[in-house]
Amino acid sequence: MFTRRLTWLKLGWLIGANPAAHLGAPPEESGFVGAATCSVCHSKESAKQASSTHAAALFRGSNHPLADSFPLGQKLRRNPGYQFEFLRPGAQIRVRITDQNDVMDLPIEWAFGAGRQAVTFVTRVNQDWYLEHYSSYFTSSHAWGPTPGQEPIQAATLPLAAGLLYKTTDTTNGIAGCFECHSTGPVSFNASGEVQLGELGVTCEFCHGPGAEHAAAPSKKNIDSPGRLSATQLNQFCGKCHRPPAANPAAVDWNNAWNVRHQPMYLNESACFREGKGVLSCLTCHDPHEPSGRRPTTFYNRRCTACHPISSLRSSIATNSTRRPKPVCLQQIPSNCIDCHMPRVSPQPGLRFTNHWIGIYPNGAKLKPIR
Ligand code: HEC
Ligand code: HEC
Ligand code: HEC
Ligand code: HEC
Ligand code: HEC
Ligand code: HEC
Ligand code: HEC
Repeated sequence: MFTRRLTWLKLGWLIGANPAAHLGAPPEESGFVGAATCSVCHSKESAKQASSTHAAALFRGSNHPLADSFPLGQKLRRNPGYQFEFLRPGAQIRVRITDQNDVMDLPIEWAFGAGRQAVTFVTRVNQDWYLEHYSSYFTSSHAWGPTPGQEPIQAATLPLAAGLLYKTTDTTNGIAGCFECHSTGPVSFNASGEVQLGELGVTCEFCHGPGAEHAAAPSKKNIDSPGRLSATQLNQFCGKCHRPPAANPAAVDWNNAWNVRHQPMYLNESACFREGKGVLSCLTCHDPHEPSGRRPTTFYNRRCTACHPISSLRSSIATNSTRRPKPVCLQQIPSNCIDCHMPRVSPQPGLRFTNHWIGIYPNGAKLKPIR
């Protein structure tokens, strides 16, 4: 019934080859103890991290924290004449897809995304295939809408209208990639094709490595910390999931709004990053255990003005840079630096990303700065 494989280059969530293909821990690697064990001794990091969107990147469908506010009964249409409706007849959420003749009724097994912007559903079809459902939930509009990348696809039959199929055994572009970036610990499949996961969501040991030895005899020597990485290494590390800097920037389509989601790739192009002598990194502006919720603009303004002095005095932070940061554009103060220098980009209604290529965007440009 499900046979079509669609071209990966068209996908919203997965543009290009899947860098997560190399992320899975080798099967012989063990030693994961889980976030609950870490929390015994690291209550501060654990309390924050538990309420982060990282920790909430994956749920069993019905356990999603927004499940009770999904607009059950609200219908979504797809051309030419398919209709989607979500129901919760028992504990499990299901989707009912109809056309003039037929009905398909599928369980919602997995819910990807904390719901910061969107939640996308995935269901195992059989041993070999998983379905990424056509309907996603969009938090800002409190409505169902097409899953990123799927809207332009013409669906000739009801099963094809249900969504996009991903192979279980494809280690490069298969469904494993979704689970690898949204969970912690090794990802594998049993004989029925059911996925076997460690912890749901991105938690301690994804970033700090398996911690059994450390938990038994705590020392800095037996636990990894990305805090020891340089700015360039952090671009690679966070870029495992957020996409690393481009090997060949000339080959990147900087006019494709979807690419703005790839923060390390964009930050890497900024003069601030390249000429800031390793001072500017993801950690300048983000706490890796950050709970969800936005920071005030004054927080970011302070990050900028730490290097770009408001007065004519030079800041001490980046004085060893070959090109010293120029003073801030004085006529703009006291406004919000990121509004103009890190513009927000919306590749599809309901989704908005921040352009991490810090630069000068004249006349409403948002995708690529003039410098
Ligand atoms: C039994 C208590 C205990 C448990 C459980 C524990 N830690 Fe630690 N952890 C410590 C102590 C104590 C230190 C400080 C060690 C030192 O200063 O030599 C530490 C240090 C660290 C550091 C800092 C390393 C650095 O470079 O500064 C990280 C990161 C860390 N732990 C992560 C974890 C993670 C992740 C887990 C769960 C897998 C975990 N810890 C479980 C007690 C614990
Ligand atoms: C294992 C993959 C993975 C790694 C490694 C990773 N992230 Fe994430 N990150 C995610 C996913 C998935 C989300 C989206 C969670 C959601 O909204 O469902 C996310 C979301 C975020 C957000 C948005 C948080 C919010 O609430 O708005 C920030 C900021 C972020 N990550 C920064 C980082 C930084 C910095 C690093 C490196 C220290 C990093 N991430 C490493 C997968 C990862
Ligand atoms: C290479 C790692 C990677 C893979 C593979 C991956 N994701 Fe993600 N996903 C991320 C990161 C990082 C984020 C947070 C940044 C963003 O929103 O793009 C994210 C965010 C999301 C979000 C939340 C969007 C929002 O902003 O609220 C959803 C939903 C999602 N992914 C679904 C999927 C699905 C379904 C698949 C498989 C078809 C998948 N992802 C594959 C890394 C990945
Ligand atoms: C997205 C990646 C990521 C996740 C998930 C993550 N950490 Fe960290 N952690 C980091 C980074 C990066 C640093 C370095 C922070 C810095 O230097 O500013 C760090 C630092 C630490 C430290 C050292 C703090 C210090 O003051 O030196 C501890 C302890 C720690 N993490 C524990 C945890 C625990 C416990 C969890 C799970 C509840 C966790 N981390 C989840 C990335 C992560
Ligand atoms: C100069 C400050 C700065 C640096 C450095 C920075 N970010 Fe951000 N980031 C922001 C701002 C500002 C936002 C938007 C926050 C908001 O809307 O509240 C953001 C948002 C995000 C988001 C949420 C999705 C989006 O695009 O809006 C992710 C994920 C993210 N950053 C990841 C990263 C990663 C990974 C790095 C390192 C490569 C990084 N950021 C470096 C300032 C920064
Ligand atoms: C670690 C220090 C550092 C931080 C933090 C920093 N920058 Fe920069 N920035 C630089 C350096 C160095 C340059 C290159 C010299 C120059 O043009 O000023 C630069 C260049 C620029 C440019 C000019 C680009 C060009 O080619 O002329 C703009 C605009 C800019 N930064 C804005 C910002 C904004 C806005 C923020 C905060 C979101 C910020 N910077 C954060 C160091 C930094
Ligand atoms: C209303 C939009 C806007 C805001 C807000 C804004 N800028 Fe600018 N900025 C510009 C434009 C346009 C330029 C290029 C023309 C110029 O130099 O005035 C510029 C230039 C710059 C430059 C390069 C100056 C040079 O001599 O080449 C820096 C550095 C900079 N801005 C930093 C900042 C910082 C830091 C903030 C926040 C305190 C900020 N800007 C707020 C629009 C803005």
